[in-house]
Amino acid sequence: MSIAGKVVVITGAGSGIGAATAELLAGQGARLVLGGRRADRLEQVAARISGESVGAENAGGENTGAENAGGENTGAENVAWAVTDVRRREDVKALISLARNRFGRMDVLVSNAGVATVAPIETLTDEQVDDMIDVNLKGVVYGITAALPVFREQGGGHFVQTVSTSGLRIVAGQAIYAGAKNAVRTISEALRQEAGPSIRVTAVSPGMIRTEFVGERPPESNPDGVATWDQVQEVAIDASAVARAIAFAIDQPDDVDVNEIVVRPTAQG
Ligand SMILES: NC(=O)c1ccc[n+]([C@@H]2O[C@H](COP(=O)([O-])OP(=O)(O)OC[C@H]3O[C@@H](n4cnc5c(N)ncnc54)[C@H](OP(=O)(O)O)[C@@H]3O)[C@@H](O)[C@H]2O)c1
Repeated sequence: MSIAGKVVVITGAGSGIGAATAELLAGQGARLVLGGRRADRLEQVAARISGESVGAENAGGENTGAENAGGENTGAENVAWAVTDVRRREDVKALISLARNRFGRMDVLVSNAGVATVAPIETLTDEQVDDMIDVNLKGVVYGITAALPVFREQGGGHFVQTVSTSGLRIVAGQAIYAGAKNAVRTISEALRQEAGPSIRVTAVSPGMIRTEFVGERPPESNPDGVATWDQVQEVAIDASAVARAIAFAIDQPDDVDVNEIVVRPTAQG
């Protein structure tokens, strides 16, 4: 199986890279399970996906109101979604259960949810520090621990984690964010070795990508040495560039494990 028919779970799927990846993979025949905190965003992405491949009338569907997740949609043939906060282990487990209940299996987990506050450590609030670690690091670990038994049982699977070039070209103001992303990079390599011959592990490092992630960053949060908001907007590239990289990794034969991909704007310094 390449992309067509695969069941792909994506966190942070309501916007940016996650949404672009979901739509690209759906266009190539994958079945998608979308997670994120904003139900309206997930619903919009699901509607676009099901509209593309099974007709707009299937985009709706019943909201089954999962107790722990606050909402999920299992209406369309090729896409389901559930409100998911990756800081909550139970939410991540519930998202994976949704994939299995709805489609009978899960082939790929794209752990893509992420948050960043660009500022020197001493000016970050405790909440901002916790959030960057809880979402970017612990949220990914929750995905790994929940999905690994499923992949073992199925005899295969694929972890894709969205990390960052922040962890490759390390600059002031991104200490906690880059640290959390690099922790995921480290975990990915050990996971690759532990997972054995049938489970693939891919860490994708986007550079500056034009999403809400970049768009919402206030100029005054950029410390010296970090590109300003305006500079970021100028060089940032479309989220579809990262989506294509993720699709490339998933599309490889089962015995080909693409472990690291870096996708930067050519103009990024
Ligand atoms: N844009 C860039 O320049 C860039 C560069 C390098 C790496 N990245 C990484 O790429 C990934 C995707 O970011 P993006 O650029 O596509 O920005 P984005 O549009 O802001 O996407 C981030 C997604 O994460 C979700 N999210 C945040 N906290 C969450 C939580 N606690 N539980 C579940 N979902 C949560 C958000 O949805 P809700 O708010 O609805 O939950 C949102 O859909 C992130 O991991 C980011 O670190 C981005």
